[in-house]
Order: sequence, then C-alpha cells, then structure tokens
Amino acid sequence: MSDDGGRTGRPAERVVVAAFAVCVVAALALAVVYRRGGHPQLEGVLLTLALGGLGFGLVTWARRVLPHQEEFEDREVLPTSHEERRQFQDTLEAEEVIGRRPLLVRTLAAAVGALGLAALFPIRSLGPHPADTLERTSWGRGRRLVDGEGQPVRAADTALDGLVTVFPEGDVGSPDGQAVLIRVRPGLIEPVAGGEGWASEGLIAFSKVCTHAGCPVGLYQADIHQLLCPCHQSAFDVLEGARPVFGPAARPLPQLPLRIDDEGFVVAEGDFSEPVGPAWWDRR
Ligand code: FES
Repeated sequence: MSDDGGRTGRPAERVVVAAFAVCVVAALALAVVYRRGGHPQLEGVLLTLALGGLGFGLVTWARRVLPHQEEFEDREVLPTSHEERRQFQDTLEAEEVIGRRPLLVRTLAAAVGALGLAALFPIRSLGPHPADTLERTSWGRGRRLVDGEGQPVRAADTALDGLVTVFPEGDVGSPDGQAVLIRVRPGLIEPVAGGEGWASEGLIAFSKVCTHAGCPVGLYQADIHQLLCPCHQSAFDVLEGARPVFGPAARPLPQLPLRIDDEGFVVAEGDFSEPVGPAWWDRR
C-alpha cells in the first residue's frame, strides 16, 4: 500500500461512511413516512438524500479511496521463505487502510439494504396482479338490467328514442359495468357480424365508458342515432354497433347482448362483446 493511499484514504473513507450513513437514515425515514400515509414533498427530499448519499459515497470511494497509481516491475523468480510470507501477512493485517475496508463494505451493504427496504412498501402498494379482470365485468347470462335505483328495467317502459343508464342487477354503480340502453325502431338496426340477435324489440345497449379516454358517454342525439361523448366530442352510431363516426375514439363501444325474459324484463345474454374502456388498454 502506497504512502499516498494512506494519507488520502482515511479522511476519504470517513466521507464515504458518512455518505452511506446518510443513505441509510434517509431510506429508513422514507419507509416510515410512506408507511404512515406518505408526504410527497418529504418523500422526494428523503429519496434524494438516500440516492444522493449512495451515489456520492460510491463515487468518493472509487475516486479517493481506491489506489490509482500503476506500479510494475520486472518479473523475476522470487522465492519466498516461510518467514517472509509470515511477515508479509503481518504487514497486511497491521495496515489500517486494509482494516477499514470491511467497514466501508458493511456501510455500503446497510445503505443498499435500507434502500431496498424502503422500496418494498411502494411495491406492496401495487396490489395483486389484475390478471384478466380488466377484460370482464359483472354482466353475465340472465343478469337483469337495473336503473340507478336498482329497479329492473321493463322493455315496455323504455321509450322510443329514449336512453337509460343501466347496471348489472346487484352491482349498481359498477364503473365498468355501466351501460346505456336505447330503444330505436327495430328495422333500423344493422347488427355487427356475429351480433345478430343482440337487440330485442329495438332495444340495444352499449358500454357507457368511452373507448377514447374513459369518459361516460351519456348524451344521445336521437334524430341521427348517435351517442356523444362530452369530453372530446367523439360520436358513435348506435345503428351500426356504436361505430365511432367522429372524434378521437378509434374503437366502437362494446355492445351488451340483450333479450327480454318471460316477465318482460330486459336481461343480458352475456358480458360485453369486448373489454370496456380506452382502446390503449388493448396494448398492455
Ligand atoms: S373520452 Fe370520449 S372522446 Fe375523449
């Protein structure tokens, strides 16, 4: 070990240990703040201190603690005696710089461990994997359509050119199950391929969640049979499977297959024809 390494190494090592200690304290404080409900500004400061301490410590270690001089000599056959090897070992163990390295390694391990611990809490907050739950709603075969009060919708009570917001029975207010039920003259409907029979007596239903960015599509212009989204003015032709005819929406509103049961109530024949919501969900 060179003289230079000894002179500059000790203060620099204290700086490295201090930087890693800052990282440990900041990371643990970050975990505590997050666990107690969070504080965005404080969390930002603590994360900066934690990452900054770790980075500063590593850079200082690399630049001021590790030796940089290159030393070389001609290689010769240099047999060493047992006594010489023992003296060399004694010298290594007596050298303080060497003795301090475990401290640096331990503080580095503590800093990385504390940061990893702090990262566990946000990772746990992500919750369970959604699997295919984004592709299904609570609609199912035989499920009645109910209004916002939970009252089943009778086909006979639905006015021509009228619009009713409906939900699956037992799931009133469902964000992804909400739908609009519209009655048009039966002869006007042009069913989509595979969707023949999804409309009964002129009753058709589509997801109320806009396929552009998820706003509720709740406006109906009966004279041109178009559903309108108030957010960015997308328009959907209900006679052609809610095909988008204007605006940024690129995908039709998913359709809910319907039938009318023996008691005259409107019921679903299954779930929506496609996953509801913005089209970019398809790219996940
Ligand atoms: S959310 Fe409907 S048009 Fe943008």
